[in-house]
Amino acid sequence: MDAVDAAFDPWSPEFVADPYPAYAELRATGRAHWFAPTRQWLIPHYEDVSALLRDRRLGRTYTHRFTHEEFGQEPPAAAYEPFHTLNDHGLLDLEAADHARIRRLVSKAFTPRTVENLAPTVRRLAAGLVGDLVSAGGGDLQAVVAEPLPVAVIAEMLGVPEEDEERGRLRPWSAAICGMFELNPSEATARRAVEASIEFSDYLRELIARRRGEPGNDLISSLIAVEELTEQEMISTCVLLLNAGHEATVNTAVNGWWTLLRQGVRPDPEKLSTAVEELLRYDTPLQMFERWVLDDIELDGVTLPRGSEVALLFGSANRDPARFGPTADTLDLTRADNPHVTFGAGIHYCLGAPLARLELTSLFEELLKQAPTLKLTSEPTRKPGYVIRGFEELLVEI
Ligand code: HEM
Repeated sequence: MDAVDAAFDPWSPEFVADPYPAYAELRATGRAHWFAPTRQWLIPHYEDVSALLRDRRLGRTYTHRFTHEEFGQEPPAAAYEPFHTLNDHGLLDLEAADHARIRRLVSKAFTPRTVENLAPTVRRLAAGLVGDLVSAGGGDLQAVVAEPLPVAVIAEMLGVPEEDEERGRLRPWSAAICGMFELNPSEATARRAVEASIEFSDYLRELIARRRGEPGNDLISSLIAVEELTEQEMISTCVLLLNAGHEATVNTAVNGWWTLLRQGVRPDPEKLSTAVEELLRYDTPLQMFERWVLDDIELDGVTLPRGSEVALLFGSANRDPARFGPTADTLDLTRADNPHVTFGAGIHYCLGAPLARLELTSLFEELLKQAPTLKLTSEPTRKPGYVIRGFEELLVEI
C-alpha cells in the first residue's frame, strides 16, 4: 500500500468521521495523487482545486465532445439506464451550449433579488420549525428543523403542491439518487437509485403535464412557457433542483450545529453571515467533486491525460494553510478573508448559493434566539457517505 492509499480511505468510518489529517498528508506529499481504487487523480490544494474548477479543459461530462469509445470509457450499464438518463440531462451534468441555455433560464429564478423577496417567508418558516423543537423541549434537530425548511422552500419554488403525497418522498428519493455520487457505489445502491429515478421521473412527468394545463406562479410553469427545454431536460433539471435544493443545506446546518455544540461556541447574532461562511468552509458538506479531463493537463510535472478523471477535494482545499493561513484547521467564526470553494467555481458555480445562505442564516438566527441553551443529548451517528457527508440525526435538548 502506498502513501496515498494509506491516507485516503473514503470507505472507512474513521476517515469519514475526520478526513482532515489525511488531507494534510496528501497536501504535504504532492499536488496530484493517483488513487487506483477509483482510478482518479486526487487534487488536494486550494490553488489547484480553484483553478481546475474554472479550467475548460475539464468537464462534468465528455459526451458533448467524444463518444464513450473515443474517450476510452465503457458506456453506462443498460440496467442503470433510468438513473443515467435522469442524471445526464440535468443542468449540472451538461456542458457547453446545452448547459448555457438551461442555466440562463433557471438562473432567473435564483437571482439575489428573487431570493431576497423570499426572505420573509423563509424566516417565518424557520421561526415556526424552531418553535416546534422548543415546545417539544428538544428532539431531532435534523428531522424537525434542518430538513423541513429547505425541502418546503424548494418544493414551493418549483410548484410541488403541498397536498401531493409525493412531497414526503422528495427526501428519500433524493437520498437514493445521491447514493450514486459516492465512490464506487454498490449494486444495491445502484438498484435503489434506478428505482427512485423511475418513480421521481414519473411523478415529475405527471406534474409537468398538470402544469401545462393549469400554469401556476412557479418555476415548472415558467420553464414550460419558454419552450426551450425538452421534456427530459425539464424532468432532469427539476430533480436536480429538488435534490441540490435541500441535500447540502441540511448537512451544512447539522454539521455546523454539531461543530458549535462540540466546541462549545456560539456565533455572535450580529455577525451571523460571517459565521455561516466559516461553518461552510470548516466542514464542507460536499467533500469532493469530479471532472473528466478533456485535453491533457500538466500539473507539477504530472500529466493528467485526456480520458482520465480528477477528484477535486473541496474539504482539503478549504483547510489549506497556503490559502487560509496557520489557522486553517481552526474554527474562527469571525474569519473575514474566507474565499472557500464550498459552492464551487466557474460555470457550474452553485445556482442556489444565495438561497442556501438565506436558509442557513435564518435557521441559525432562530436557534440562537429561541434555543440559547441548546445541548446535545447523545453523540450523533454519521451516515456512511464520504462525498455527501452528514449525520443520521442530531438529538438535542433545549
Ligand atoms: C449549503 C448548501 C449548498 C452547497 C454546499 C452547494 C454546493 C454546490 C456545488 C459545489 C455546486 C457545483 C458542483 C460542481 O461544480 O461540480 C453546486 C451546483 C449547483 N447547485 Fe448547489 N449547493 C447548495 C445548495 C443549493 C441550493 C439551495 C440549490 C437550490 C436550487 C442549489 C442548486 C444548485 C444547482 C442547480 C447547481 C448546478 C449549477 C450548474 O451546473 O450550472 N444548491 N452546488
